[in-house]
Amino acid sequence: MKTGHAARRRQRDRRGFILVTTLGAALLLLTSGYMWLAGVNQAPRPAVGGPFALTQDDGRPVTDQSFRGKYLLIYFGYTACRDVCPLTLASVTEALDVLGAKADAVQPLFITVDPQRDTAAVMHPYVAAFTPRLIGLTGAPEALRRVAREYRVSAVQHAGDDPARYLIDHSSVLYLVGPDGRYLAPIRADSTGTAMAQDLARYLS
Ligand code: NI
Repeated sequence: MKTGHAARRRQRDRRGFILVTTLGAALLLLTSGYMWLAGVNQAPRPAVGGPFALTQDDGRPVTDQSFRGKYLLIYFGYTACRDVCPLTLASVTEALDVLGAKADAVQPLFITVDPQRDTAAVMHPYVAAFTPRLIGLTGAPEALRRVAREYRVSAVQHAGDDPARYLIDHSSVLYLVGPDGRYLAPIRADSTGTAMAQDLARYLS
């Protein structure tokens, strides 16, 4: 009988242990689930944007500080791009026309993802053909990689292309930065000039 009692007690202890462990695990799951949800709700928006030191298409060195006081409308691309860049820059040009006097507060910037070919001399006539407002920015490959990283822009050169005529796959988003240098919002790059002007007008004071 003694052994029977002992066996039952062991069984009871084991059940108790399993119950406590299960409850504990459930509590832990609930708590961590709650903390995770709370964390998600409180998480700050991921940082976009940051400082840069580049060269304007007129050859002058500039930094992000050079443009304080203006809204920046930043687009990343390259002059040899066949469709997306020219279409986007045409829409930006149209949007600024639609905005009229409000557009004076906006400085559009075209930052190259192709430092190898997009020298200031190459970019200058390219951007001027869209609008004299548009400024092209180039620079050292590392400086351009850094600013692209800050804006979460991906740019991947096609492998196996003719080394002189390669294409680059790149993100296509317009970034609106406030006069204080802080990132405000993404602006759709694939919309018409009129739609883009409406998007922008919501942020321009
Ligand atoms: Ni492009």
